[in-house]
Amino acid sequence: MTLVEIRTRSPEKTQVVGRAIGENARAGDLILLEGELGAGKTCLTQGILWGLGGNEYARSPTFVLMAQYAARLTLHHVDLYRIESAIEAAELGLDEVVSGDGVTVVEWADRAGGMFEGQGLRIRLALVTESTRSLTLSTTDVRYSSAIEAARLAERDGS
Ligand SMILES: Nc1ncnc2c1ncn2[C@@H]1O[C@H](COP(=O)(O)OP(=O)(O)O)[C@@H](O)[C@H]1O
Ligand SMILES: [Mg+2]
Repeated sequence: MTLVEIRTRSPEKTQVVGRAIGENARAGDLILLEGELGAGKTCLTQGILWGLGGNEYARSPTFVLMAQYAARLTLHHVDLYRIESAIEAAELGLDEVVSGDGVTVVEWADRAGGMFEGQGLRIRLALVTESTRSLTLSTTDVRYSSAIEAARLAERDGS
């Protein structure tokens, strides 16, 4: 089990951390984001997309639960905010998306019940102050080691 806490003091810094994660992402990666509205989940996802080489603006998929962005690896951006139950999450067929060639980021992953138990890189975002966020990265999977290390370096670098 790896557990790392990172603090960012601006939205741009959260994007820098996301970019580092995206640059180190590999096909089949699953990134599970948790945290209240405004915690910075979409902001981090934006950075991940840029790190994957995409140049679009990622927004929370509001009316659809999933959006795709073309990049070095396709980014599947899922937002479970609007689902009514974990059963609904199970019916989305996310396992098929996750097992594909792209990278999957899930906002409100905690709403999926135990569906992602023991899988992926979990990132819990929380408000510290108006402009500071804490990001707690945890995983039991060594495949995310380089992404976590890159995120730590990004936190330290002065940008
Ligand atoms: N350090 C920070 N990291 C990320 N977002 C921040 C930070 N400080 C302030 N913000 C603001 O918080 C909001 C985060 O929104 P968003 O990424 O859409 O959150 P979520 O997807 O978790 O609901 C944005 O308005 C952003 O400008
Ligand atoms: Mg969001």
